[in-house]
Amino acid sequence: MSARPTALVTGASRGIGAAVARALAPTYDVLLGGRDAEALAAMCAELSGARPWPVELTSVTGADVAGIDRLDVLVHSAGVMTLGRIEETPAEVWRRTMEVNVVAVAELTRLLLPALRAARGHVVLINSGSGQRANPAWTSYSASKFALRAFADGLRLEERELRVTTVYPGRSDTDMQRGLRAQEGGAYEPEKYLAPDSVARAVVAAVTATPDAHITEITVRPAGGSPN
Ligand SMILES: NC(=O)c1ccc[n+]([C@@H]2O[C@H](COP(=O)([O-])OP(=O)(O)OC[C@H]3O[C@@H](n4cnc5c(N)ncnc54)[C@H](OP(=O)(O)O)[C@@H]3O)[C@@H](O)[C@H]2O)c1
Repeated sequence: MSARPTALVTGASRGIGAAVARALAPTYDVLLGGRDAEALAAMCAELSGARPWPVELTSVTGADVAGIDRLDVLVHSAGVMTLGRIEETPAEVWRRTMEVNVVAVAELTRLLLPALRAARGHVVLINSGSGQRANPAWTSYSASKFALRAFADGLRLEERELRVTTVYPGRSDTDMQRGLRAQEGGAYEPEKYLAPDSVARAVVAAVTATPDAHITEITVRPAGGSPN
């Protein structure tokens, strides 16, 4: 059996989650969450100690976490971005956004609580600047991220043996941002966005804090770029 600690990262097939998995892999055996089996296999080939954890998070069950008895770090990075003014956002879009960004996070955390408690583990939630302030036409996404912040705060209060960190990144250079810029009708300017690895470094800072320090929130914005 491995003596290394274990981390589970959702959304590890690409974007910020993949960068977090890469940043944790030198120290942790990483379970890579995502639905794209090929992408997960490629990540596994790259990272020693990594294993795929293929799952559709909106229908996660106890069977998906069977065998995970001890978990040192759980990083929730999987998420969806939904753009649209309130007048053009029907209930099904609200439900889908909340399902992935909030309900799935709550359910996966609940299922893994025994394993997290066993390790006195750390839960990291990748939130967004949109979880700190609403923007026009981003309301459903923003509401889901405000809810995610409340979930993190409640978890921290209820599970005093765990550490719970919310990370609020600004615009980051990923598929999600590419899709968002296309919908906004704006140029894609990666040099103005955060590199996914810069967000991953914030996650590493939280999970490697000294034992007396509980880093509860980290805000990261692109240097010299948009305050959003
Ligand atoms: N990019 C930004 O500018 C930005 C800024 C602030 C905050 N964030 C937040 O950062 C997090 C990561 O975003 P990103 O930019 O890395 O996104 P991304 O490139 O679009 O990747 C999204 C990841 O989430 C996974 N995922 C989505 N829905 C899922 C589901 N139902 N079941 C299982 N996995 C699912 C995807 O897996 P598959 O490969 O299987 O689809 C993928 O790995 C999100 O929570 C996002 O809200 C992003």
